[in-house]
Amino acid sequence: MPHIRPAESKDIKDIEYICRMTAGPEARRNEDIGKKIALTYSTYYARAERETSFVLDDNGKAVGYILCAPDYSKYVKGYRKNEVRKLWEIEKRQSVTAFFLPFGYLPFKKKYPAHLHIDILDGYQGKGYGSQLMDTLLEKLKSMDVPGVMLIVDKENTGAQRFYERKRFSKIASALGGIVMAKEI
Ligand SMILES: CC(C)(COP(=O)(O)OP(=O)(O)OC[C@H]1O[C@@H](n2cnc3c(N)ncnc32)[C@H](O)[C@@H]1OP(=O)(O)O)[C@@H](O)C(=O)NCCC(=O)NCCS
Repeated sequence: MPHIRPAESKDIKDIEYICRMTAGPEARRNEDIGKKIALTYSTYYARAERETSFVLDDNGKAVGYILCAPDYSKYVKGYRKNEVRKLWEIEKRQSVTAFFLPFGYLPFKKKYPAHLHIDILDGYQGKGYGSQLMDTLLEKLKSMDVPGVMLIVDKENTGAQRFYERKRFSKIASALGGIVMAKEI
């Protein structure tokens, strides 16, 4: 029976795989593109934010995650020093995209210092696990006195937007071709 637990260092490969598999057909088809996407959106949290990152575990394998950086300043420093630098060695253009990514969170960091990513492999979606992952993270952020959490969702991803609205997130702005959604804790 799948269950939720804190992310561990051994989960990094599974987390990168989930990120790639839920990032659209191009990333699924092409391993190199998938690798860059994973390094842009998931590796930092699996490496440096495990206190606020959780996985859905099925028989020892992570099949879903919620990844969260609770503090913008720590995130921007660590992400640029490691993942953005690594991307620079792989492909300059993706590295530049990654360098600018934190600016999407910057205007909201005072009220919503935390931001999150949530993804679940296909066969495990629609079974209540996303909701449980979100509740687990919100409880953790509450215990840490983090005042608010935000995310950026693609404007085409209306399913995920409905999911966030069900979890009482509100749309607060548009940024980087996406919609900013946020929740006070
Ligand atoms: C979005 C996602 C994390 C939701 O997790 P989930 O486990 O599938 O969702 P749950 O089963 O916990 O559903 C929770 C609630 O959200 C609603 N919901 C979930 N996915 C939905 C969708 N695609 N469209 C409409 N409503 C949805 C459910 O109806 C449910 O509402 P209820 O509690 O009133 O019944 C998951 O479907 C996923 O990983 N999708 C692909 C990747 C993705 O889009 N990630 C988000 C990127 S910003």
